[in-house]
Amino acid sequence: MGNDLQDVVATVVGHARRLSFREADLLDLAPVAADVLADAGRSAELAECGERLRAGIGRPAVDGPDPWADRPDVSDDGLLPLLALLVVAPEVVAYQVGRGVAEEQAWRNLADLGQQVWVHRLVHGRFGLHNQGWLRIVWSGAFAWIGRLQFNLQRLRGGEWVLSTHIPRRGSEGSGALTPEAVDESFAQAARYYAEHFPDLPTTDFWCRSWLLAPELAAALPGSNIAAFQQRWDIDDQVDDGDDDAVYFTFARRPPYDPRRLPRTTRLERAVASRLELGEHWTIRRGRIAQTSFSGGQP
Ligand SMILES: CC(C)(COP(=O)(O)OP(=O)(O)OC[C@H]1O[C@@H](n2cnc3c(N)ncnc32)[C@H](O)[C@@H]1OP(=O)(O)O)[C@@H](O)C(=O)NCCC(=O)NCCS
Repeated sequence: MGNDLQDVVATVVGHARRLSFREADLLDLAPVAADVLADAGRSAELAECGERLRAGIGRPAVDGPDPWADRPDVSDDGLLPLLALLVVAPEVVAYQVGRGVAEEQAWRNLADLGQQVWVHRLVHGRFGLHNQGWLRIVWSGAFAWIGRLQFNLQRLRGGEWVLSTHIPRRGSEGSGALTPEAVDESFAQAARYYAEHFPDLPTTDFWCRSWLLAPELAAALPGSNIAAFQQRWDIDDQVDDGDDDAVYFTFARRPPYDPRRLPRTTRLERAVASRLELGEHWTIRRGRIAQTSFSGGQP
């Protein structure tokens, strides 16, 4: 490997380290990066993905060109998107620093990439990425990982902006149980973070669309953190099919799956698998919480 190429690979691996990649993923990343960068055709493709990704920085509505357009998502385990995200990361950090976010927090906000690479290994058993579509939202610069939860500015149909709420898996970087105290703290900090760094896009509500907001899930796990989280939200009437999400987020499995063969060690595993085995379904629901609940009544 030439010295220049070695330097670029070392820089990319350095970014991955700051984005909470695990050791196994860092080890696999270096040779993949070297292969792509040494190949003129793939390097050109990488540069093009990077350009499109850059065009999305500072566009929280994620309405720019799709950086992954024309790319088969799975054929190369998402390696080119993964590298493009790493190459462009410092520019997203710079955008956030320009909005007054501390540099360390800005890198933390992008560490969802490390989580998604870890999840790819859980699901597929090897290094790669399959959630690059979702990561466009993170790379817009209006996404933040704050304590136990993650947030982004989202424009709903009708034009209203809300703070969309996401729940990283337990076991991901710094994320343990979903205790009510940790959730309260994240909500309070997030309300302050967006008021300070994105005053041009004011919001009044937290918003969430998730299988974790399904009332039947809370009913199946009385007294649990999951039930307490679900019960915070004012749920609307939209009901979507949640079977695949329930299986993905509980067992790290994508279809096809046989409910009879899913493990049943924990209460959640037992609840998810037995409902499916009975031919019943899980749902995805949407809910809201007013931010004033976390700001002492101040808008
Ligand atoms: C949401 C989450 C962090 C809650 O974890 P938690 O605080 O430990 O949950 P609870 O304390 O309410 O758990 C209740 C029961 O379910 C089990 N459980 C919770 N999450 C589990 C998971 N992902 N896999 C297997 N079992 C799980 C717990 O072990 C407990 O069972 P037990 O008493 O037999 O041990 C966790 O479920 C998770 O990581 N989910 C995936 C992320 C997700 O769904 N995000 C939303 C995407 S839209």
